[in-house]
Amino acid sequence: MDATHPDASLAPDPVQARQQADIDWNELGFSYIRTDLRYLAHWRGGEWSGGTLTADNVLHIAEGSTALHYGQQCFEGLKAYRSADGSINLFRPDQNAARMARSCARLLMPEVPEEMFVEACRQVVAANERFVPPHGTGGALYLRPFVIGVGDNIGVRTAPEFIFSVFCVPVGPYFKGGLTPHNFVTSQYDRAAPNGTGAAKVGGNYAASLLPGAQAKAAQESGRHFADVIYLDPTTHTKIEEVGAANFFAITRDGRRFVTPKSPSILESITKYSLLHLAEHRLGLEVEEGDVYIGDLGQFGEAGACGTAAVITPIGGIQHGDDFHVFYSETEVGPVTRRLYDELVGIQFGERPAPDGWIVKV
Ligand SMILES: Cc1ncc(COP(=O)(O)O)c(C=O)c1O
Repeated sequence: MDATHPDASLAPDPVQARQQADIDWNELGFSYIRTDLRYLAHWRGGEWSGGTLTADNVLHIAEGSTALHYGQQCFEGLKAYRSADGSINLFRPDQNAARMARSCARLLMPEVPEEMFVEACRQVVAANERFVPPHGTGGALYLRPFVIGVGDNIGVRTAPEFIFSVFCVPVGPYFKGGLTPHNFVTSQYDRAAPNGTGAAKVGGNYAASLLPGAQAKAAQESGRHFADVIYLDPTTHTKIEEVGAANFFAITRDGRRFVTPKSPSILESITKYSLLHLAEHRLGLEVEEGDVYIGDLGQFGEAGACGTAAVITPIGGIQHGDDFHVFYSETEVGPVTRRLYDELVGIQFGERPAPDGWIVKV
């Protein structure tokens, strides 16, 4: 079984790779755009082999593939950023490699070694350089690595073969408007079970989030619209866990403490751990990972959603039942949130010094 059409493998053309794509960079949202080449490797007979770049963006896989029936798949999301000098930065790809290894282990899939993961990302960015948005536009090249179980199978068991692939898409802001506050609404649904797969980046969690996400976007309370859902902890429904596909953080009213939830069913956000570090070491804040009760939001003067796609999205307010709690403002960004944003984005685009190992040049 082969996942690509014959003759689809290509060596990247270094001249073509650099000719800028015909894209209105300032209008980029978060939508699929087909880029030139993607990386594809197979796991057969106990090892990964055949990592190549291919022009074919369609996978041809067995009808019994475990990825199709039993959700045996996981993925990652990271970005490549154009610096002012034209060079390209990957932000903490080792952390994505480590998280994907944890996701693979949770779903009984073979891990992709860190070196192979990072090299695949580098190759994909280099081969699609013309799609990396210019510095100053705010856009970035989003990389989507994934592992899927494939091959002939019918029973609930781990797949006989696997595919590891990385493709890329140029993107702008995930939530429209960049650094502008959005409102969110709590959900009755859970995205993950208490000891389930919430901490792994696996498709099933996202399939489960589609209905609550759609309901939140369709909901209206007193004329307010909501960008996405706030998930509460699946055991007691009293503590904040996630903001759609992003982690939650808040700043206490005195502006001195950065607080973020800790739970085994939260996806450990690389952006969140980066902010924890920056809040402590660059902004001089106290930092805390712990319980954030939905009934205690009054102690916070600012709040945000953070993630690779969401970057930092300030949270204007949260609707919970009949209550609507406003943090800083529904229209303005709070001062600590802005400083965190400037620090994080400055590092990603090469404008501020990065802590050791955070930036990997392509
Ligand atoms: C459920 C969920 N939480 C949080 C995040 C943010 O994680 P990261 O900062 O690593 O992108 C993501 C995105 O990957 C996500 O899908």
